[in-house]
Amino acid sequence: MNKNLKLGLFGYGCVGQGLHDVLNSSKGFRADISRICVKDKSKKRRLPMRHFTFEKDDILNDPDINLIVELIDDAEEAFSIVTTAMKKGKNVVTANKKMVAEHLKELVLLQEETKTSFLYEASTCGSIPIIRNLEEYYDNELLYSVRGIFNGSSNFILSKMYNEGKSYKNALSEAQALGYAETDPRLDVEGIDAKYKLIIITLHAYGLFIEPSEVFNYGISNISEHDIRYAKEKGYKIKLVPYVGKLNETTITFYVLPRFISSEKNLYNVDYEYNGVIAEAAFSDKQFFYGKGAGGHPSGSAVLSDISACTYNYKYEYKKKNQNTVKYHSTNIPIEIYLRYHNKSDLEKFRFQSVSENYYRKDFNYVIGVINLNNLIDIQKELKKMNIFIVNTGRKFN
Ligand code: HSE
Repeated sequence: MNKNLKLGLFGYGCVGQGLHDVLNSSKGFRADISRICVKDKSKKRRLPMRHFTFEKDDILNDPDINLIVELIDDAEEAFSIVTTAMKKGKNVVTANKKMVAEHLKELVLLQEETKTSFLYEASTCGSIPIIRNLEEYYDNELLYSVRGIFNGSSNFILSKMYNEGKSYKNALSEAQALGYAETDPRLDVEGIDAKYKLIIITLHAYGLFIEPSEVFNYGISNISEHDIRYAKEKGYKIKLVPYVGKLNETTITFYVLPRFISSEKNLYNVDYEYNGVIAEAAFSDKQFFYGKGAGGHPSGSAVLSDISACTYNYKYEYKKKNQNTVKYHSTNIPIEIYLRYHNKSDLEKFRFQSVSENYYRKDFNYVIGVINLNNLIDIQKELKKMNIFIVNTGRKFN
């Protein structure tokens, strides 16, 4: 059923402006942006100032506005806006993965209580419609795993270093200039943004609510020329790959780690700001989704799709949560890693169960071996301070 949509928009940054362009160019779909709430009074805007307000209640208290589109940076402020809007019976579309991942349980409950639509396709993998697919296509599928490249900025940096020989620092600056990176880019390069997206995917794929503190994340901020050279010599690329998968009928595991990808793999050619998602399932087998993961227009297109879904009162049903087959999660799993290290004392903190390669040179040392993920979790805080780099080899073993 077509509803007359009156939008209240929060935020007019990269995604907000992207949405504005997308809405202006989309034929056959009309949604009026009634008001845009922004924070910075001094910033020059592309639109006349009469479209803007600095007061959130101007939008939240406007009875004519029936859909809130939340595209601001501050996750706590976003949470306050989104929950107030839902309590007032307004539908909400958001791209804020941090806010969604940190408050997922509460937000899902609130949308059930208030009977509003709460949609967030743009929060996860930009233009790739992965949430809608998990909800609708895989609703009864036995999903073995979901993994991929969920963060455009870190992938952009890795591609710039690997394909063009750029330095980490310059590649990061470029990702920031192009509007791909978060305001605090540590979220991108330390695997935290990818972890938020993994948490959202986990709920839709397996029906489990996971806290950010329960997911191990290790990013790319410590990568060096040595690691890139090593990968090249072996015919691999290094990608930041979040993973969630089944250990048995009732238990899943998850983590975010850099991973070696060989050239015959789908993720090998996912470069720059592109994202890729691989779903493996019992009946559909292996499927690969590919698309732009960051940037104003790709994210704007996902927001538009959610806005359009609100016109027919689309809601996520969280079918996997209601099926209640997966009940537990565990991090007690073996993983084979490549560990580049500098100090022997750091190496000793890793309790390798077995070692298959041990390379030692004056300026470049590494070990390849199997460790338990719980071992990495135990020393997670120290990892950041060590002169090391960790890559999941991705090798399967028994
Ligand atoms: N900083 C995010 C990324 C933006 O680089 O993927 C899109 O979520």
